[in-house]
Amino acid sequence: MVKRTFNRVELLKILREEKEVSGEELAQKLGISRTAVWKHIKTLIKKGYSIEVSKKGYKFVEKVIPLSEEEFSELPFKVYCFKKIGSTMDVARKLAEKGEEAVILAEVQTSGRGRLNRTWFSPPGGIWMSLVLKPSLDLKSSYILTYIASLATALSIEENTKIKVKLKWPNDVLYEEKKLAGILLEIQAELDKVKYAILGIGINANNFISSLEKGAISLREILNKEVNRKEIILSLIQHLKSLLNLNREKVISMWKERSSTLNQEVKVITLGREITGKALDIDEDGALILQTKDEIQKIYSGDCIHLRFIS
Ligand code: BTN
Repeated sequence: MVKRTFNRVELLKILREEKEVSGEELAQKLGISRTAVWKHIKTLIKKGYSIEVSKKGYKFVEKVIPLSEEEFSELPFKVYCFKKIGSTMDVARKLAEKGEEAVILAEVQTSGRGRLNRTWFSPPGGIWMSLVLKPSLDLKSSYILTYIASLATALSIEENTKIKVKLKWPNDVLYEEKKLAGILLEIQAELDKVKYAILGIGINANNFISSLEKGAISLREILNKEVNRKEIILSLIQHLKSLLNLNREKVISMWKERSSTLNQEVKVITLGREITGKALDIDEDGALILQTKDEIQKIYSGDCIHLRFIS
């Protein structure tokens, strides 16, 4: 058998021509193994191609209709929509430094970032946004913003899709223990006052994620249809506004009602330490209260793993 060199253009051509094509068929046409096909498909998805992966095979999905600034003209601040940028967080910081309150949206982020310096995969179809806020908060109360952001995200998802979501400490939005959305908070303070806050919100909306990340899922994958990103964004902003006007106790109590962390055995990785225990409560200063083997501990930041759900 003559060994053929693999050509990615050929793979894209077949995907464009066929409605849906199995791994087996692709392997035969391209003269490579099914594992190699999967590897190349993953690379294409990482590059931003919308390829749907199912048990039957692979298919190109229709192009995402980009969000546009005009769609948000009713808002009292500027919305910037980018086709492709590094990270909405960087644009947000520049605008914040100029004193602007704004929302920045991107169809694709090439250097999307998550908490704890992780990479945030941001292909077309997702909601990748940063909001520049100038809340009148002192620095020690600024923790409330992450609770507000995750709560507003959960409420807007529930309102627009009718699915039930849960919140994982400190600020993940989960659907059946799979990550649907995450929040990144960056704060600039002057003396003890918050000068500005940048809320980075990433929602797996119309993108496909579950075949790439075991612990993640998108709204499209849950509902088997596309969601209206504009409506989700508008209601998220509306919820943010209302929650910012509530007192902190109320926000925490609403957050706790939707929490999947409380009453669970968890492992929290914080400041290079691992602490295992039962999540008892969220304190009024935003800390997670953990009952460990020996004592009660308060934890202010970290990565939380729900032990019951580890497979
Ligand atoms: C997390 O780790 O859970 C937080 C993810 C935050 C991702 C969003 S997407 C929009 C904004 N821009 C980024 O680079 N990150 C945040």
